Amino acid sequence: MTYLVLDSLRHQTEDALNEQFAFDVLMGFSAPAKYLPSKYFYDAKGSRLFEQITELEEYYPTRCEFEILNRVGGELAEFLEDEPFEIVELGAGDGRKTKVLLTQLLETTKQFSYIPIDICETAIANLVESLNQSHPSLTTHGIVGDYFASIRHLENTSDSRKLVLLLGSNIGNFDFPSAKRFLHSIWKCLNHNDLFLIGFDLKKDIEVLTKAYNDKRGVTRDFNLNVLTRINNELAGDFDVSRFSHHGMYNPRHGAMESYLISLEHQEVHIGALEKTFEFKPYEAIHLELSHKYLLSDMQQLADQTGFTVLNNWQDSQGYFADGLWRVNKDFPES
Ligand SMILES: C[S@@+](CC[C@H](N)C(=O)[O-])C[C@H]1O[C@@H](n2cnc3c(N)ncnc32)[C@H](O)[C@@H]1O
Repeated sequence: MTYLVLDSLRHQTEDALNEQFAFDVLMGFSAPAKYLPSKYFYDAKGSRLFEQITELEEYYPTRCEFEILNRVGGELAEFLEDEPFEIVELGAGDGRKTKVLLTQLLETTKQFSYIPIDICETAIANLVESLNQSHPSLTTHGIVGDYFASIRHLENTSDSRKLVLLLGSNIGNFDFPSAKRFLHSIWKCLNHNDLFLIGFDLKKDIEVLTKAYNDKRGVTRDFNLNVLTRINNELAGDFDVSRFSHHGMYNPRHGAMESYLISLEHQEVHIGALEKTFEFKPYEAIHLELSHKYLLSDMQQLADQTGFTVLNNWQDSQGYFADGLWRVNKDFPES
């Protein structure tokens, strides 16, 4: 089993990748309300910290989705009929939950291959290696690349029926209009009757949400602060991370958890790669991430507006999390 680093990434030198990172940091720190794009969380250390988050007592989403995936394999296989297919996973990470699903599907049908996609090369390398050990009979082709570039690559290289997975609450990182654009772009790369299994973190007691993003051990804090360390390491920044704190809060108007880093004092930070110094006022916030929470009716609306038919919704026993199974409907107008 191997993995492919997409040409669009392979042909970019480390310098060019750093240039994009530097550009995004410049944009984010020059905005009136400072922000950083959440995709920069996931260097090797960030991916490792996220794995630790998924094991925290307070962080329910992974546990809940495990519970769902542990029991849906048989039902899912019924929708796949008797033909070879490919399972394509967007943002696969460590793939721990997916392995549960793969194991069940291998028991009912052997006619599929698995294509995990992630922007983090370490995540794909580790996942492919661990599947080699745990599922030696499964054909796995990892892809290191961005969601869109990877799925477009697949559109050009394979005609097989697809089951696309977007697990965890990755879709929650988009606001509703961006989620619509994202899902419709994926729809454009798929064929009629392809399937999509997509995870949604559901709206729930605000205290449960708040605790999940403010764990007692401070792993979420370290995960968020790591993006500043990444700027130090890759862009010659001089952030003193101890002068920032993590703040995770629920915004009931947006129905989203919001993550911020807060500057604890007045400070200036120089970023060598940008040859620029940025000022942070006391208590000034850097916005890092949104994590939107959904109702089942929001999920239905999102599917209806992006060209998918909802086949099933599975929830965990607490009703905290849902995985929707959607089918691509190409009678929907292409916009
Ligand atoms: C929150 S983790 C979820 C991992 C896994 N799906 C789960 O449910 O536990 C998000 C994953 O998506 C990947 N990712 C984030 N943005 C991406 C992008 N634009 N293209 C490809 N992968 C991306 C990250 O590297 C990370 O492994």
